[in-house]
Amino acid sequence: MKLLHIDSSILGGNSASRQVSAAIADQLAKSASGLDVTYRDLSAAPLPHLSGELFAARQGVVPESPAIQKDIAASEAVLDEFMGADIVVIGAPMYNFGIPSQLKAWIDRIAVAGKTFRYGAAGPEGLTGGKRVIIAISRGGLYGPGTPVAAFEHVESYLRAVFGFIGVTNLEIVVAEGLAMGPEKRAKAMQGALKAVSQLHAPAQLQAA
Ligand SMILES: Cc1cc2nc3c(=O)[nH]c(=O)nc-3n(C[C@H](O)[C@H](O)[C@H](O)COP(=O)(O)O)c2cc1C
Repeated sequence: MKLLHIDSSILGGNSASRQVSAAIADQLAKSASGLDVTYRDLSAAPLPHLSGELFAARQGVVPESPAIQKDIAASEAVLDEFMGADIVVIGAPMYNFGIPSQLKAWIDRIAVAGKTFRYGAAGPEGLTGGKRVIIAISRGGLYGPGTPVAAFEHVESYLRAVFGFIGVTNLEIVVAEGLAMGPEKRAKAMQGALKAVSQLHAPAQLQAA
């Protein structure tokens, strides 16, 4: 069973989402011996933005330059890594009400028509069913239902939309929020998130055993 662990925070050792995503990966690895873990740090090794040249080269409209060949190969590697994973763990901080641009660049490489979704007569169809995706979200403020800025929450809502669109139905979200509201609130939020992680169920193959 393969686990893909992705981080996107720019805050290195001070990152809350990195701490929670690592705890998730550890928790699953602990409960499933032989879990094959691949780690990708989108901040340390950012993916380039999509380009018109890449699309044109893919469609055979322009010849592939060496730079675009490299980009296509990187894109395919990212997609294969995602498609090959049974479990995907993602650290997703809120920056300016949305996900980090580094994470968006990764999503742009995995949301590929004909590979992870397609449009048919009945509308869009996701093609990545069967995967378990667990997302660790960190936010400085509070965005729960009823809060004054609930409508500004574009991390969880976006990630639910995009993973739903590509067919992921097994999506779990762990939230640590209020992290910028003082050390006590931060500690409490992290404690709550880590407790939620400790309650995540073991990978399916072990549950059946
Ligand atoms: C560039 C930047 C933008 C941020 N924007 C927001 C924001 O819009 N809303 C919010 O609640 N917190 C915001 N924060 C606070 C982060 O969500 C908070 O620090 C969280 O811990 C980030 O996750 P990380 O520690 O894993 O990077 C921002 C932080 C940074 C560094």
